[in-house]
Amino acid sequence: QQDGLAARPPMGWNSWNHFHRNVDDATIRAQAEAMVSTGMRDAGYIYINIDDTWQGTRDAKGNIQPNSKFPDMKALADFVHSKGLKLGIYSSPGTTTCAKFEGSYGHELQDARTYAAWGIDYLKYDLCGLRDQMKAAPTPETANKIMVDSYIKMRDALRSTGRPIVYSLCQYGNDAVWRWGTTVGGNLWRTTGDINDHYARMAEIGFGQAGLSRFAGPGHWNDPDMLEVGNGGMTAEEYRQHMALWAILAAPLLAGNDLTTMTPETIAILTNRDVIAVDQDAAGKQGDRVSAEGPIEIWTKPLADGSKAVGVFNRHPSAMTTQVDFARLGFSGPVKAKDLWLSKDLGTISAPYAVTVPGHGVLFLRVSQ
Ligand code: DGJ
Repeated sequence: QQDGLAARPPMGWNSWNHFHRNVDDATIRAQAEAMVSTGMRDAGYIYINIDDTWQGTRDAKGNIQPNSKFPDMKALADFVHSKGLKLGIYSSPGTTTCAKFEGSYGHELQDARTYAAWGIDYLKYDLCGLRDQMKAAPTPETANKIMVDSYIKMRDALRSTGRPIVYSLCQYGNDAVWRWGTTVGGNLWRTTGDINDHYARMAEIGFGQAGLSRFAGPGHWNDPDMLEVGNGGMTAEEYRQHMALWAILAAPLLAGNDLTTMTPETIAILTNRDVIAVDQDAAGKQGDRVSAEGPIEIWTKPLADGSKAVGVFNRHPSAMTTQVDFARLGFSGPVKAKDLWLSKDLGTISAPYAVTVPGHGVLFLRVSQ
């Protein structure tokens, strides 16, 4: 890891979840402007990340050029920087990307230099295009070595530019990436396949992160994929559960919606200062599951000031009543609590604390002794 990079889970926006291939220079500029005007930037969202489909062909010297959707990457980076934001880009260690655009295979150093010259601050490096080479490998071990070596190659290329560039590994949890992600210089690594804008998939990914907390920390984070908040496929209750779970997971918070058309409710979910503070907490500790009883899961995240974020998650579609036993969460006697979604101080409360959690919702508390 480069010193000080991604000391907190990266926050920003990425084009893929909402725009897929329909992204161009104008889209990126509009998102950057909306990032500022909606208050997202001031809430901490800094990276504007272009995902797959920006790449054109290589010039005679092998330098990668953007396609016609992105006439001038340097000018775009300058624009994004002028808004107090940072620009991210995307490539693959294979010859092509998932969407079959030009990858970095054999051009790693050249591409890293190009990114640095443009003023790029973040690279998402997506395995896809290397899959054929991996399949052709004689053993699973050699296949994994091809993968790991390819990530090391780009790490070294990025470092050699001297520009701080956050390195986002995207290989869907392959070969338990959380065990080797730091050794290849990853600042974050995808632990799963793609998220989509449906509750079932979000919950499958989010609650599936149990047990991974010890692999994350400042500079190196587990990445359960980007946010779907505001994309329309889930209810507000479900999006609050999604956001709270990602905060407890100390997950990168990369909004994946159209920032130019957000409802006040979407803005409120994405910019809740108390929720973001849980994600970005200085201790840099990922939270984990404490209990799962039927559809009710309780997760906690230890925070730098000695308090804990406590999420009481209801995975059932209708409301459920349960009791929270703070002793089981590491507290003794009465506790002080704040409800983070209601922005409401609950004062001193004692166990057993009876709560009703809406269907697919979350009671999200910050609790101290
Ligand atoms: C697969 C990744 O997991 C997605 O996030 C996105 O980057 C697509 N590839 C782009 O092709």
